[in-house]
Amino acid sequence: MMDIFDAIKTRRSIRRFSDKPVSQEDIETILDLVRYSPSWANMQCWRFIVVRDRQKIQKISELSYVESFLKPMGYKANPATKGIGEAPVVIISCADPSKSGTIWNQAYYMTDIGITSQTLMLAVRGLGLGTVFVGIFDEDAIRSLLNIPSNIRVVGVFPIGYLHDEKKETKMPERKPLSEIVFHEKWQE
Ligand SMILES: Cc1cc2nc3c(=O)[nH]c(=O)nc-3n(C[C@H](O)[C@H](O)[C@H](O)COP(=O)(O)O)c2cc1C
Repeated sequence: MMDIFDAIKTRRSIRRFSDKPVSQEDIETILDLVRYSPSWANMQCWRFIVVRDRQKIQKISELSYVESFLKPMGYKANPATKGIGEAPVVIISCADPSKSGTIWNQAYYMTDIGITSQTLMLAVRGLGLGTVFVGIFDEDAIRSLLNIPSNIRVVGVFPIGYLHDEKKETKMPERKPLSEIVFHEKWQE
């Protein structure tokens, strides 16, 4: 079993997958671990859709390019688009905002889903699989593709699979040093 510190440090966003099948048992293990995540008043606003249908996965891949958002930034595709199309399984992470809290204008359903997302990604890593949090997609089109009611927010798309190239080292994008992100006793400029 992978040590939790190792899992945290070696988790990477994986954007290319092999066609090796992912067992339903692994998917259930991942989602069962996700259930243990903390949430606002333990309301567990999250719902997950497991997609294996190839046509639907292809469509989700296409829907991960939001031209109006990405084109002005110079992107011809979402960096995850190709990988979504390759993945044997895609998990769609949804939230019912009415089943979480809002205080000082902060909607905590996003936090609830954020926590499950990290749990999901670490569980995936622990099983020797890969995934990436995809946050850019056409939400309305995904709603209609998967029959998701309009009051439910679609927050994340997670393609899951074995790595396209196990040996290829996935380099860690740089992280800010602690000295830049941690203050002591008070906010510091
Ligand atoms: C909320 C959120 C949304 C993201 N959306 C996308 C996305 O749409 N496409 C993509 O390729 N990566 C996406 N990512 C992955 C980030 O680009 C990635 O986590 C970051 O570059 C750090 O790399 P690492 O995950 O390998 O440490 C997203 C990550 C988060 C947390």
